[in-house]
Amino acid sequence: MSVDLSTVYLALELKNPLVASSSPLTGTIASLERLEAAGVAAVVLPSLFEEQIVHDQLEVERLYDLHADAYAESLDYFPELNDQYSTPNAYLQRLEDAKSRLSIPVIASLNGSSDGGWVEYARRIEQAGADALELNLYFVPTDPDMSSADVEKRYTDLVAKVRDSIQIPLAVKIGDQFSALPHFAGQLTLAGADGLVLFNRYLEPDIDLEKLHIKPELVFSQPTEARVPLRWIAILRDQLPTVSLAATSGVQNSATAAKLLLVGADAVMMACSLIVHGPEYVSTVLAGLTEWMEENDYESVGQLRGSMSRENTPDASALERANYVQTLAEFTSRYAI
Ligand SMILES: Cc1cc2nc3c(=O)[nH]c(=O)nc-3n(C[C@H](O)[C@H](O)[C@H](O)COP(=O)(O)O)c2cc1C
Repeated sequence: MSVDLSTVYLALELKNPLVASSSPLTGTIASLERLEAAGVAAVVLPSLFEEQIVHDQLEVERLYDLHADAYAESLDYFPELNDQYSTPNAYLQRLEDAKSRLSIPVIASLNGSSDGGWVEYARRIEQAGADALELNLYFVPTDPDMSSADVEKRYTDLVAKVRDSIQIPLAVKIGDQFSALPHFAGQLTLAGADGLVLFNRYLEPDIDLEKLHIKPELVFSQPTEARVPLRWIAILRDQLPTVSLAATSGVQNSATAAKLLLVGADAVMMACSLIVHGPEYVSTVLAGLTEWMEENDYESVGQLRGSMSRENTPDASALERANYVQTLAEFTSRYAI
């Protein structure tokens, strides 16, 4: 039996649900071509960051000798990034190159948190040929006077602004730390998101004990991290039936991909495991997914997708709080604590 792996994500027809998530691996044409050859269905380019756009704009102003003193400090402190994370113009050029070299959909990514001119890059990204835009909103609120409603409004205002400036599908990538995620997810879609990418991994700070300074560090994800999108996609799938849902964080093998499809993901994204094992690992995951579907008599991803969403699973309470005490009891007896 052959299985039909096709899916629809952000109104894009994908040959299978595996998407290469935004990372340095999607930042060179050589690795994009390897990902495509290995069978990935779409790619998300590394983000173009608000900070890069602002830096670029300030530098242009400085070249014209405007505000030279005022901006000197911010220009001096801008970090050097690898080629994959390029200047805004180089980003648009890379997007055009990727579009001309690949036949799979190319999704661009904008990453920011505040209102400003950087949002206009959404239109330029559309003009450069992106099939869709992923907007990564990464904001850490520290002001005690800012309420969760204020934070959510900041996100929805940005989504509405980007939505107004482009026609291509728009996905919004967020973290999982919102107190009322189902309501907020609904607000994001009302503001114009066609899809949600769940979830962004924040850079958690650490302390360098030698230098006594705080050092945010990017570490590879762990497979158990996929349980967070698993829970929330199961809950959101039935509430947002027409919204595309992509799972990201901790997808490292075909079993996890199958689980995320079962709860209702339209697409499953991978970054760390492709960096670790190389782009060709896509074909291993696809083969594993196909084999599992055949063994379990699934004919298509369409049949599989959402069949264990919150409404479709008999033990929905396990997605919430109900089994908390029982699970604790099992843990304590297993480890004889
Ligand atoms: C080195 C690295 C760079 C990343 N850069 C971006 C980025 O530019 N934009 C973005 O939205 N996500 C970025 N991510 C996050 C990934 O797209 C992905 O959401 C996250 O790593 C969780 O998925 P994973 O467990 O499959 O790695 C990056 C991840 C890694 C490891």
